[in-house]
Amino acid sequence: MSGTERFDQAAATWDGEGRRVKMARAVAEAMVARCGLPADIDVLDFGCGTGLVSLALGPLVRSVTGVDTSSGMLDVFRTKVREQGLEGVSAVLLPADAPFAVPGSYDLVVSSMALHHVKELAPLFAAFREHLRPGGRVALADLDTEDGTFHEDPAGVVHLGFERDGIAALLRAAGFVDVAVETATVTRKGDRDYPIFLATARKAG
Ligand SMILES: C[S@@+](CC[C@H](N)C(=O)[O-])C[C@H]1O[C@@H](n2cnc3c(N)ncnc32)[C@H](O)[C@@H]1O
Repeated sequence: MSGTERFDQAAATWDGEGRRVKMARAVAEAMVARCGLPADIDVLDFGCGTGLVSLALGPLVRSVTGVDTSSGMLDVFRTKVREQGLEGVSAVLLPADAPFAVPGSYDLVVSSMALHHVKELAPLFAAFREHLRPGGRVALADLDTEDGTFHEDPAGVVHLGFERDGIAALLRAAGFVDVAVETATVTRKGDRDYPIFLATARKAG
């Protein structure tokens, strides 16, 4: 099964797992605490899934555009937006075989738990930079390096978390400055704790 099929299948029950909702809430809170989030900004949420982070940030900013390769996850996202009557929160389906075909420009690119599904981060970070307005920022959350026990189903998992120094170096190489990496939250799964980092940076120039 491909990673996209896996997420399509998981979509209907994704939000039913309290651990995921709690983690996304903590990540969104860390993004707000770290970035401030002025009310007049446009946010892109890469790998938005069912919108756990997008919908938490939506009421705080002018717009949030969620992008994802799973139509199943986006169906759930759009249903929630409709039910909650949220203005300014929308979703765009990305083709699974094209790296990053998103229209528009943004003040902030966020992402939670999606980077470990993307093989090459350098072109992705370059695309984030391209889609950011001058002075725009990124706030990217994902797993610290883990031993492969985090995912029961490894379909679509291409990184077993990340070294923080490696993420910081990739962001600098892609043209970001003021790079900082801190712990956003720690998620507990089974009898294990998995730290989640938040990497923030600003577009240079
Ligand atoms: C672990 S889920 C996280 C979803 C959401 N951000 C959250 O915190 O609940 C990872 C998401 O990344 C999406 N994804 C995986 N590879 C992707 C890619 N190359 N481009 C965009 N989205 C991708 C998946 O479809 C899935 O919805």
